[in-house]
Amino acid sequence: EPMQVIKKLNHHNFRAYLVGGSLRDYLLGNTPQDFDIATDAKPEDVMRLFEKVIPTGINHGTVTVIINDVKIEVTTFRIEKEYQNHRWPSVEFTDSLYEDLKRRDFTINAMAYHPDEGLIDYFNGLDDLKNRIVRCVGNPQERFFEDALRILRCIRFAAQLNFSIDTMTFQGVVLLKDLLKKISMERINTELSKILKSKNPLYGIQLLYESGVGEVVIQEYERIYKFLHSTKFDLIPFSLKIPAFFAALRDAKKVETLMRKLRFDRKNIALAITLCNYLNSEYSTEYLVRKIFFEEEKAEEIIIALSILNKDDTMVELFNKLRVKNRLVKKEDVKIKGEDLLELGLKGKEIGNVLQMVYEYILYNPEKNNRKDILDFVN
Ligand code: CTP
Repeated sequence: EPMQVIKKLNHHNFRAYLVGGSLRDYLLGNTPQDFDIATDAKPEDVMRLFEKVIPTGINHGTVTVIINDVKIEVTTFRIEKEYQNHRWPSVEFTDSLYEDLKRRDFTINAMAYHPDEGLIDYFNGLDDLKNRIVRCVGNPQERFFEDALRILRCIRFAAQLNFSIDTMTFQGVVLLKDLLKKISMERINTELSKILKSKNPLYGIQLLYESGVGEVVIQEYERIYKFLHSTKFDLIPFSLKIPAFFAALRDAKKVETLMRKLRFDRKNIALAITLCNYLNSEYSTEYLVRKIFFEEEKAEEIIIALSILNKDDTMVELFNKLRVKNRLVKKEDVKIKGEDLLELGLKGKEIGNVLQMVYEYILYNPEKNNRKDILDFVN
């Protein structure tokens, strides 16, 4: 689909190249999800030439073209003229592919491809891709001054691709990390989430620590790092990566405040608080495993996450043992309801209290989960 777009633009005498992350991912042997094309056609030309288009960011020169449900971002060659507060630069169009590529963040993101011309690689991005290095295009400090989010993106790409960071580039990260304070929480959130959900989150967590970037974007990052660095964090189930990271703060109030500030959604915040409370609880391992299975929706994942965070392998073993023996029951399967207790003549608050006692009883005696045994217990 992107080649169709390039051909059509060429046919109308415009130049067009595949660029950015999609080319990088393609060269790495991965299938890109969305494509970026850079062209000397102006947004209005692109809008005119293609059938299905979305004016995604006309002011920044970007039009999304949709072909066979594939989204292709077509952006006019541009240079960033002035930088305002280290973010969202105002743009100016250019006729030069070279100028367009020169303003990009990293060499691995600054290549271009055309089906007839082949790979265009002014900044040795292919070498860096082969040697697995994240390196700024030109002077790192200039690139980071232009858009401070790149400081975090640098660590994100290293973690996602399992690349090292070029020495000068890393020095730039360390030197200018405080500029990240000017970046919006939404943009920080996006990059941080990508780091935690990458293939190598622990490596990202390590880089955030070594560079001092973690301390700039998260208060008390050291506390999180110290708790996580010797764990097998990489093995935590995908859906709990973000909550587990924040739970490492070990203080539910702080977890909530910090995650709200960083614009995480309620689901992630609730899960982080749940994990945090379990981490701090003094229940025995067996009680904890039973309770989590009994009460939590993502029980299995929570147990795996806790066993990794607690460095307590017995949790998962125990869970499997109890499950194989079928000695675990879910809360909703307990064979007695509030109405049954009402019939027995219990009232109001009593019902809640007795029900809680029944739950605790079944938690440890799943084989008694039948009406007769439960009623005996209640009596
Ligand atoms: N880019 C940049 N500086 C930024 C953001 C983006 O130079 N702060 C350039 C890079 O060339 C990048 C391209 O714009 O490759 C597209 O940006 P984006 O979609 O954010 O990143 P991708 O590299 O495509 O990575 P991914 O899609 O995996 O997030």
